[in-house]
Amino acid sequence: MDLSQLQSFLTDNPKDNLDKLHNQFGRDMVFSTSFGIEDQYITYLISKMEHPVSIFTLDTGRLFPETYDVWSRTLIRYKLPITPFFPNQDKLQAMIEKKGPNSFYYSVEDRKECCRIRKIDPLQQAIKGRKLWVTGLRAEQSDSRNGLSQLEYDEHNNIIKYHPLLNLTWDELNQVVDDNNIPINTLHKKGFPSIGCQPCTRAVMENEDFRAGRWWWENSNKECGLHS
Ligand code: ADX
Ligand code: SF4
Repeated sequence: MDLSQLQSFLTDNPKDNLDKLHNQFGRDMVFSTSFGIEDQYITYLISKMEHPVSIFTLDTGRLFPETYDVWSRTLIRYKLPITPFFPNQDKLQAMIEKKGPNSFYYSVEDRKECCRIRKIDPLQQAIKGRKLWVTGLRAEQSDSRNGLSQLEYDEHNNIIKYHPLLNLTWDELNQVVDDNNIPINTLHKKGFPSIGCQPCTRAVMENEDFRAGRWWWENSNKECGLHS
């Protein structure tokens, strides 16, 4: 089935879509969670599936304590396996030996090197051999994400991506999470709409963009390469 055929059977209901796509792709379908509020809603939806989609996370080693906490609470609540992927030991060791533990602050290139070792390379392992990758991207998060379709082909990673919450607003998302008592990262209530690694994420002010707190010291496009 090609992309336009798949697109044509998607509805406005993310749970129905996950079920339909899972019927098509089975074990070739995988969901990546960073335990952000979007991902927590998707995990909740997956927990309601008769045959839940496999879930993985990229543990960069630099996550917030609050993220490890919501990861633990999620395991207890939903009892779904979440497979962690870690950076390659040799590459990490070489980078830190040469540049120290905080090289991401030195230049955009150094920051991208860290993202590559801690996130992008492990992602390649996590999606290897899979055909459909489910993410929590939302259009409202940034201009570039605003241009996405719910279903898209990622040429770089040779995989179809599905963003079930693409058109959900921040208020709608918070409402559905409250209504269903879904566990969330406590940082969301402290001014962190978007949560990545601890040294690279700060809280945002009322008038700032969703992603202003990510790599806040850079004038970059605020992407690490997972989705660009
Ligand atoms: S990022 O590219 O800036 O880091 P963002 O934090 O907005 O991404 O998250 C968007 C989606 O990317 C999440 O909903 C999730 O599907 C995936 N993602 C981001 N970080 C991780 C992670 N550490 N582990 C697994 N998936 C992640
Ligand atoms: Fe490294 Fe920061 Fe990227 Fe995390 S977000 S992988 S700490 S540069």
